[in-house]
Amino acid sequence: MTDRDAGVRYVHPEWSSRWAFVLAATGSAVGLGNVWKFPYMAGAGGGGAFVLVYIFCVALIGVPIMMSEIMLGRRARRSPVNTMRVLAREAGASPIWQLVGWMGMVTGFLILSFYSVVAGWTMAYVFRVADGAILAQSPLGVRQAFGALVGDPRQGLLWHTLFMLMTTAVVARGVRAGLERAVKLMMPALFLLLLALVFYAVRNGAFREGFEFLFRTDFTKLTPAVLLGAMGQAFFSLSLGMGAIMVYGSYLPRRSSIAGTTLVIVAADTMVALLAGLAVFPIVFANGMEPASGPSLIFQTLPLAFGQMPGGAVWGGLFFVLLVLAAWTSSISLIEPAVAWLTEARGVHRAAASALAGLLAWSLGILTVMSFSDWAFEFKFLGMQKANGFFDILDILTTNLTLPLGGILIVAFAGWVMPRALAGEELDVRSRTAFELWSWLARYVAPALVTVLLVFLLLGNYLYA
Ligand code: PFF
Repeated sequence: MTDRDAGVRYVHPEWSSRWAFVLAATGSAVGLGNVWKFPYMAGAGGGGAFVLVYIFCVALIGVPIMMSEIMLGRRARRSPVNTMRVLAREAGASPIWQLVGWMGMVTGFLILSFYSVVAGWTMAYVFRVADGAILAQSPLGVRQAFGALVGDPRQGLLWHTLFMLMTTAVVARGVRAGLERAVKLMMPALFLLLLALVFYAVRNGAFREGFEFLFRTDFTKLTPAVLLGAMGQAFFSLSLGMGAIMVYGSYLPRRSSIAGTTLVIVAADTMVALLAGLAVFPIVFANGMEPASGPSLIFQTLPLAFGQMPGGAVWGGLFFVLLVLAAWTSSISLIEPAVAWLTEARGVHRAAASALAGLLAWSLGILTVMSFSDWAFEFKFLGMQKANGFFDILDILTTNLTLPLGGILIVAFAGWVMPRALAGEELDVRSRTAFELWSWLARYVAPALVTVLLVFLLLGNYLYA
């Protein structure tokens, strides 16, 4: 592909290897979505019923969309906005497809705005757990300590600011010196710690009860809310539908198997979510807590576990450090599409582009900080009571609407608009059957499933009103 549209001085970066891409994409996927969100959503969705639908969505929707995002990015080697524009032109389609890239950029800002606030709480917990104060508390005391943190806007804002600075600092350094270096250091450590925590839960928690909660499926629990929640979570957890994986794919060296790479990333992400559930629910049940307690779930269960554990302050502190790292390797992928576009299309220096993007997401984040104190308000969504106004609205808007919508458009573009021969060549899957399988999922199954679930969103809200 010729480089007529890229700036003269602009050189598109590249990962140093396929392995670096796998780590970066896994770093994007594995984050608060796995350890913080998955357990509380599974808790609210009746456990096994939610998990079953989730895995179904990951396999039938997540896999073909991730392959499509990587493929489109790698072919065009540009930011998502320009990737969509250039590939649409190549296919003789309307330039309007670049709107997919724009929607993704906006979604990235919206997600990062609340993501950073929650990541800020995990930073605050590093200190609270490590100094032991919170560990000596009863379940009620732990709950109150969490309420005191999130209910204080000054503390919320302080930690949110700090986390946003950390995010922009990495992105400002560029793809190899910033993103790649960060993920190479952080990802292996996170994985080891999670295993240690599950091991602890197996030995000390009500493991049987937790396991059964997560894997026993009660089909009466499959309401529209659970179906839609599980699909949205699949998009959120795999970082799909907004161009994060697309922009990472644009830095991927040419010759690497997209199908194999996708399966590794998806398997790692799903495993971390399930392991997090297996670490959290046994502790929830052992302490007579409520599995559906919402966004506060892990902040109330993990300190209790560490409180009973020898060396709990050290292990607990470390665990929250690693949760911060997991969030960090995800947050950088949330503004990378915007930073890539600013540097490539507008000639903005990377450091300035990162600062600008960070500032925008930071400002939006104030809405979330205030959602847990002065500006909190309640509303109903699909029959579920939501208590944290703007935070819940931003979460629902992105997870349940713009990510699935972006995903469906990306996969439809890859399946229908891009010439079939070209897709076949880019994906380069060894067997014809594998290509046909991708094509069938990308053209029919994924778009149809997402459409049905989005209709549920509209109908369900109407029915439950
Ligand atoms: N996948 C991340 C997580 O599970 O925490 C969140 C995320 C990152 C969502 C990047 C979307 C995205 F583009």
